[in-house]
Amino acid sequence: MSEMKRLAGEKAIEYVEDGMIVGVGTGSTVAYFIDALARIKDRIAGTVSSSEQSTARLRQHGIEVLDLNHAGALSLYVDGADECDPHKRLIKGGGAALTREKIIAEASQKFVCIVDPSKQVPVLGTFPLPVEVIPMARSLVAREIVAMTGGQPVWRDGVTTDNGNVILDVHNLSIVDPVTMERELNQIPGVVSVGLFARRPADVVIVGGQPPQVL
Ligand code: 5RP
Repeated sequence: MSEMKRLAGEKAIEYVEDGMIVGVGTGSTVAYFIDALARIKDRIAGTVSSSEQSTARLRQHGIEVLDLNHAGALSLYVDGADECDPHKRLIKGGGAALTREKIIAEASQKFVCIVDPSKQVPVLGTFPLPVEVIPMARSLVAREIVAMTGGQPVWRDGVTTDNGNVILDVHNLSIVDPVTMERELNQIPGVVSVGLFARRPADVVIVGGQPPQVL
């Protein structure tokens, strides 16, 4: 799959225009995008990063990383996904960076999602849904998720997010109405963010292949 990820990551470079500040996601597919971005780094004004992991890779390449508060609204955000449905709605957060990813997606005019073909699904939910939670609310939120969805939340033991929180991965969901589920899970006190990107889906999906498919 890494070749498919590379092809998707490199295709996304076509969306980068001179002088842009580029929003950068997190994960192994995005790593290929960052490596390709390094080749044209002198043409862009900088980046906004969604994780410490991506920030480190960007800085290794000598690419400037800016604070979103200074960058303002962004023209372009490029990120991967764990699942993608035919409406470009996504599950994200396999890399635990969902909250910052969601913030940057919201701040961006165009969200280009880069995936390998294994990420395409008819209905979201086979991949366990990541939910970022304030640590003291972990058990409370888990109980409410069971009552609300019937899914099984599993604490991602040993993982602390860049924001100092924990992740619950919710198994056994079939998410037929992702917009409603995203809204309802967001209401539970203690939930920081939900790895459903349905209210603000991707605008473009690039599926890695020979040639890459642009949806
Ligand atoms: C990180 C994410 C990633 O985009 C998602 O997990 C996909 O990762 P990869 O490109 O390594 O398959 O949401 O929080």
